[in-house]
Amino acid sequence: MERVVFGSLLHLSSLINSLKPYKVAFLTNNILKELWMGEILKYKEAPVIAIPDGERYKSIESAMYIWKILREMEFTRKSLLIGVGGGVITDLAGFVSSIYMRGTYLGLVPTTLLAQIDAAIGGKTGVNFYGKNMLGTFYPANFVLIAPETLKTLPQEELLNGLGEIAKYAILDSTVYRFLQDIDDPMEALRRDIIEACVNFKLKIVREDMREEGKRRVLNLGHTVAHALEKLSNYRIKHGFAVSVGLLVAALVGEMLYGFDAGKVEAMLHRFRLPTGYPASPQEVLRELRGDKKFWYGKIVFVVPVEIGNVRVEIVGEEVIKRALEKVFK
Ligand SMILES: NC(=O)c1ccc[n+]([C@@H]2O[C@H](COP(=O)([O-])OP(=O)(O)OC[C@H]3O[C@@H](n4cnc5c(N)ncnc54)[C@H](O)[C@@H]3O)[C@@H](O)[C@H]2O)c1
Repeated sequence: MERVVFGSLLHLSSLINSLKPYKVAFLTNNILKELWMGEILKYKEAPVIAIPDGERYKSIESAMYIWKILREMEFTRKSLLIGVGGGVITDLAGFVSSIYMRGTYLGLVPTTLLAQIDAAIGGKTGVNFYGKNMLGTFYPANFVLIAPETLKTLPQEELLNGLGEIAKYAILDSTVYRFLQDIDDPMEALRRDIIEACVNFKLKIVREDMREEGKRRVLNLGHTVAHALEKLSNYRIKHGFAVSVGLLVAALVGEMLYGFDAGKVEAMLHRFRLPTGYPASPQEVLRELRGDKKFWYGKIVFVVPVEIGNVRVEIVGEEVIKRALEKVFK
């Protein structure tokens, strides 16, 4: 399992040195190269491979481009590739590293809130190929350095995007929920202790179930509907915003089945200025849900909140889902 270090960029040199790598290379995008690589190279001088910014560059073509450069550099299995960026870069760095010579050393420095609390943790790597993350591996990094100072340059919309996932952790984990209870300004949720609580929760789950065969599925809370909205919007809606709407639907399903207080979730999403609706009809969303990969032997599998800190992964009847969708989508 990966070693996760909560610290600052100052910790980078010692993390690199502890692996005694033969060679080191950074993988980033052109935005982060401008913003942060100058600072990072102060701690370790090494070649920087930069790809253009954007989800569409999380591709097999980018991977081939990077493998070629690594080959020319005579990179070996005992060499270290360090991904510096958001989830696009951390997913791609993990994928590239896991395949090259059957796996090199891998370090990640996530620079978005979403990547710090989610994408860079837990060893899932991937590139898009016909569909999202269609090619991928499970390959935990040797280290993940969480350096919250890198969030200083992140646009507000990206911070809110990460908050959608933080709201998910608040339903899954009562510690995170308590931390968030009296926060009114979304930016206050960027506290180090909150980020740390989210990461620790995810680590606890993935350490028990790396390959998503059981417990890890709870992390899909809100994601069944989120994926449907992402597809409906042609991936224009931000992931964290889609999760926010998905959380409300899951909460309403929980209310119908177990008396969960969905009002708590709705109030939290409002406080965080996260969306609680999307312009689609309940029928459209249901149609997408039926096509989702969690549509299992003809049934829809949902993560349903029972109370804060307690969810169940179960098959939910279409009638119940339809009623929840009708409350959120008009
Ligand atoms: N592997 C996993 O478990 C997992 C989990 C969740 C999401 N993901 C993946 O993560 C990706 C989304 O990640 P994301 O939301 O971080 O998006 P992203 O990587 O596209 O980053 C969002 C934007 O912020 C910019 N950026 C990043 N850091 C910055 C900084 N410090 N200052 C200024 N700008 C900065 C990026 O250049 C980009 O334009 C998706 O591809 C998704 O599939 C993976």
